[in-house]
Amino acid sequence: MNLLENDFKLFRDYIYELTGMHFPDNKKYIIERRLQKRMEDLGCDTIKDYYRLLKADSRGSEVVNLINIMTTNETYFHRNLPQLAILSDEIFPMMIKDKIARNDKFIKIWSAACSTGEEPYTISMLLLENLPNPAGWNIQILASDINRNVLNAARRGTYSSRSVKDVPPAQIKKYFLSTNGSFEVKPQVKQFVRFFSMNLVDEKQMSTVRGVDIVFCRNVLIYFDDISRKKTVGLLYDSMRKGGYIFLGHSESLSRISTSFKICKFKNGIVYKKE
Ligand SMILES: C[S@@+](CC[C@H](N)C(=O)[O-])C[C@H]1O[C@@H](n2cnc3c(N)ncnc32)[C@H](O)[C@@H]1O
Repeated sequence: MNLLENDFKLFRDYIYELTGMHFPDNKKYIIERRLQKRMEDLGCDTIKDYYRLLKADSRGSEVVNLINIMTTNETYFHRNLPQLAILSDEIFPMMIKDKIARNDKFIKIWSAACSTGEEPYTISMLLLENLPNPAGWNIQILASDINRNVLNAARRGTYSSRSVKDVPPAQIKKYFLSTNGSFEVKPQVKQFVRFFSMNLVDEKQMSTVRGVDIVFCRNVLIYFDDISRKKTVGLLYDSMRKGGYIFLGHSESLSRISTSFKICKFKNGIVYKKE
C-alpha cells in the first residue's frame, strides 16, 4: 500500500496524539505495512474506509487494535546485562541496606513499558537472588504497557527458547518450568509482578503511580519525539521517591530531555537518580 501524503499525516498525527509515538517521514513504510495488514484482516478496501470505521467505533475497540499494531514489542530476558549488573551488584545491595537501616520493608519497582513481561520477570529473579529473606518484605513489581495483547501474553508468562537465550542454565532450572521447548515462569517469580495497562503520555493514568524506588523505562522513548519524551520523563519523575533510580535503554539519554535527574556513574555504566 502507498499512502498519500495527507493520509499518512492523518494517521501519523492520530497515533502520536494517542501514544506519543512519532513516525518520521522515513518510517512511513512501517505505518503502511501495519495498516495494510489490519485492513486486510477487516476486509477494508481503502484507507478512507478504515478511517471511517475507526472513527465510527463508539466503544473505541478499533482504536485499541490500532495502538496494538503500531507498537514494537521486541524484548527478552536479561536484556542489557551490564545494566542489570548495576542493578544487581550495586543498586540493590545499597537500597536494601538503606531500607533495613530505616526499617522500611517496602520495595516498589516499575517496568513502565514491559511488553510481554520478560523485563519485570527478570527484575523479580534478580531481586530473589539478592534478598536474603524475600518473605520479610513487601515487594511490588509494577509492570505496564499500552498494548493490551502483550500484557495478556505477559500474564501467561510462557516463553520460547529465544526469549530465554541469555538466562544462565542454573537460573532456567531455578525459575522456569520447561516443557517441549517452552519455558514458563514459576509462581515464585510471578508472585511480585502485577500487570496493568498504562499510557506513558496520559497524565491522569500516570498520576496513579507514586513512591517508586526504581523505574525501568527502556527502549520506548526511542519511538517518541522530544515533546512526548519530556512529558513522559516528567511524569515518571513525579512517580518516583527521592533517591530513586531510573534505567533507560542503551541508546536513550536524558541529556536534551531533563535536568531534574543526577547522573550516577557505576562500574558498568550510568543510571539517573532523583535527588
Ligand atoms: C521495544 S518494547 C521494550 C520492552 C522492554 N522495556 C525492553 O526494553 O526490553 C517497547 C514497548 O513500549 C510500549 N509503548 C509504546 N508506547 C507506549 C506508551 N505511550 N505507553 C506505554 N507503553 C508504550 C510498546 O507497546 C512496547 O511493548
